[in-house]
Amino acid sequence: MSKYLVNGGFRLCGSAELQGAKNSALPILAASLMCGGESVIFNCPRLSDVSAAANILRYLGCSVRREGDAVLVNCDAVCREDIPDSLMREMRGSVIFLGALLSRNGRAVMTFPGGCDLGPRPIDLHLKALKSLGAQIKERYGVIECSAPNGLSGAKIALSFPSVGATENIILAASTAKGTTTLTNAAREPEIVDLCEFLNKAGAKIYGAGEGVIVIDGVKSLSGVNHTVIPDRIVAATLMSAAAATGSQLVLEGVIQSHLNAVISVFEESGCYIKCEMGKMLIKPPERLSAMPMIRTMPYPGFPTDAQAVLMSAACLGKGTSVFVENIFENRYKHVGELLRLGADIRVENKVAVVNGREKLYAAEVEARDLRGAAALVVAALAAEGESEISGIEYLERGYEDFELLLSSLGAKVKRI
Ligand code: UD1
Repeated sequence: MSKYLVNGGFRLCGSAELQGAKNSALPILAASLMCGGESVIFNCPRLSDVSAAANILRYLGCSVRREGDAVLVNCDAVCREDIPDSLMREMRGSVIFLGALLSRNGRAVMTFPGGCDLGPRPIDLHLKALKSLGAQIKERYGVIECSAPNGLSGAKIALSFPSVGATENIILAASTAKGTTTLTNAAREPEIVDLCEFLNKAGAKIYGAGEGVIVIDGVKSLSGVNHTVIPDRIVAATLMSAAAATGSQLVLEGVIQSHLNAVISVFEESGCYIKCEMGKMLIKPPERLSAMPMIRTMPYPGFPTDAQAVLMSAACLGKGTSVFVENIFENRYKHVGELLRLGADIRVENKVAVVNGREKLYAAEVEARDLRGAAALVVAALAAEGESEISGIEYLERGYEDFELLLSSLGAKVKRI
């Protein structure tokens, strides 16, 4: 088990380049399974979740290797259609291989995915949509067996909720189905647009990515391409929170401003000066942050649930009361108990967390229990006076590349032990 020792209460300074987005890299790695020849995925972050996806591809018979920031995948020798439980449990994102395997092999066998425990994470929407595309699905003893012996066929699918993973699975499966699929109430996240750009370069015909209605004309085959993963907007939100919590001026490089509109407006309303130009973002917080406007997590373009925890850490030091409403996941306040140990004043009732800002936080021993909660504890510890010990850093490493090195380059006193 790895830990961070964070000696906090100091300002950060300097500039940081954003890593590639985990939530783009994972579905794109799954999509490479459907491509003939080699796919080269640039700006692919070094994360344990990315290694887990690479291990699934290797198990299926693909060759996967890293060269610098790129991951090269060749899936011409795929020889299996099952994913063992040990690999499925490593991350939630593994469910994305369902659509890709079905499209590639006409059959997929896997167990329910693992990942961070954010409350129940059903995959009913994925399975219902794949059935509409003609898949036969059997579920027994936690094993899902999907088959489409005569191939998949396009269909009209309306999601009851714009699930990110279900939208990705439908796009993957429909890309090589016979005929046209029309998907309504699709998720509109930038990572979905990135996946569709990869697939369209590979020969798919997907229209409307980033909008509520996506139309997919199935094609016979796809071929490997070069693609650069978009920058990680949640890592950007984390660094913005670290800047705001410690009163530090930072520059983030490789930012796509439009992906961060909901987050930027919260920081601006709490008194930060933010300027974006040519992919660089300057954030200059006030001496002490004001209370945040009410934050309600929503599907994109609303405020991202993945940024809720890190902004809450900054709100702990704001002037006045900030209110958070978590609408996406049931169990996404596990960082709160640990923030209390650092001296925060937060009350939670069901979906709502009320944060009364304190002038200071103080170092403590805390334990991370999920990925974004881990990042929130790091943000709070950077601002808390004294040396905090954060355990459960393996959660952080699912989504943040060499985070202690990045923070150290900004002047933070962080050691990984
Ligand atoms: C993805 C992201 C995750 C982010 C989340 C919401 C990846 C690898 N992960 O997760 O970081 O927090 O989007 O932005 O991209 N639901 C159902 N049935 C389903 C599917 C989902 O009820 O079949 C519910 C979930 O329980 C949850 C909500 O829908 O309450 C959102 O889930 P979804 O958008 O599917 O999130 P993920 O794709 O799992």
